[in-house]
Amino acid sequence: MLHESAMTQALELAFSGVRGANPLVGALLVSAQGEVLAQGHHRGAGTFHAERAALANFFAHHPAGVDLSSATLYSTLEPCRHQGRQPACTQLIIEAGIGRVVHGASDPTSNGGGAAVLQRAGIEVLSSVLREECEALNHRWTAAQEQHRPFVTVHLAQTLDARIAAADGTSQWITSQASREHTHRVRSRADAILVGTNTVAVDDPRLTARTPAGDLTQRQPLRVVMGLTPVPKRCKLTQALPEGEGWVQLRTRDPLEALQELAQTTHGGYPVKHVLVEGGQSVLSAFFAAGLVDEVFAYHAPLLLGAGTASIGDIGVTTLREAPRFALDPAESGPVQIMDSDVCVHLQPKGDTCSPES
Ligand SMILES: NC(=O)c1ccc[n+]([C@@H]2O[C@H](COP(=O)([O-])OP(=O)(O)OC[C@H]3O[C@@H](n4cnc5c(N)ncnc54)[C@H](OP(=O)(O)O)[C@@H]3O)[C@@H](O)[C@H]2O)c1
Repeated sequence: MLHESAMTQALELAFSGVRGANPLVGALLVSAQGEVLAQGHHRGAGTFHAERAALANFFAHHPAGVDLSSATLYSTLEPCRHQGRQPACTQLIIEAGIGRVVHGASDPTSNGGGAAVLQRAGIEVLSSVLREECEALNHRWTAAQEQHRPFVTVHLAQTLDARIAAADGTSQWITSQASREHTHRVRSRADAILVGTNTVAVDDPRLTARTPAGDLTQRQPLRVVMGLTPVPKRCKLTQALPEGEGWVQLRTRDPLEALQELAQTTHGGYPVKHVLVEGGQSVLSAFFAAGLVDEVFAYHAPLLLGAGTASIGDIGVTTLREAPRFALDPAESGPVQIMDSDVCVHLQPKGDTCSPES
């Protein structure tokens, strides 16, 4: 099997994962005869890395100690050498006795250097196969790493005419039950949910992640309020707890400063690496204007308001040429989903974007 063809399959696998704290990664274990022995992909922070997932799938059907010295492991990203929430992939590859590793993108983080570890262990390593496509797969995640900030997902729950609240301030609910359930799934995998001070004042949201039955999910994100106005004492999101216990206020209007502060914050024992920005208009606009949006879920509900709060305000664009552009994101469940009567469009900023077909 040609390296490019195997790497293309690994890329397709990678797109089944979810964006957020960790990059999308796909892996394929291939025999010397070109037979695919196992495949795997990373399903999100705290779950098996793609290489480990592929090896686990292989060893689920083969005895430990089986000879893999003539097999090749393909991975869209350089295997990590870092022991974090998951063991280092390099160690697992060495222990499995795999003869060759082929990877696409190099790891841009401090966890890089896995290729050299493998080589020192006597494993043949081939780098940069479909490098551009593999780098494009995670171009926004890499940008977040370089800026030492969390990955930012934006939630836009809007009417057909792109409004997030009616003229009287009411906004619950614009979108369907299915859209809201999807939002709760995204909330449950984010490290933090961020809203502006005015959304807290107007909506008094709980900002919890809940199951369709309304129960709290096991993992709750940090609740974050951005802005200078003090958070009202009796609002639902603080649950009468002192600041620092499940919620924080970032007393700034600068989105990069807010993100960098969050990057220094731990929640549940881990640093905040993935933030879901839910609104309102001022905060959303500030993140878009600063180019700090990495992923968008735009839920379009079939109703019109004609007046009220637009989802995005002035972002400094005065002519079409300056408009930030977005590309359909095929990751996770695909770029377009019907959620009851709503249409959810999954987007990422246009850049060196990559799709399974490209
Ligand atoms: N449909 C939905 O899913 C959804 C979701 C959220 C909100 N909403 C709606 O959105 C509306 C609220 O929108 P909003 O724009 O008034 O409120 P907002 O964005 O929640 O909060 C605005 C406040 O945030 C602070 N802030 C922080 N950073 C800022 C920045 N860079 N630029 C400007 N302000 C910044 C400012 O207050 P300080 O003076 O305190 O700094 C500002 O007044 C409500 O009607 C709510 O129902 C809808």
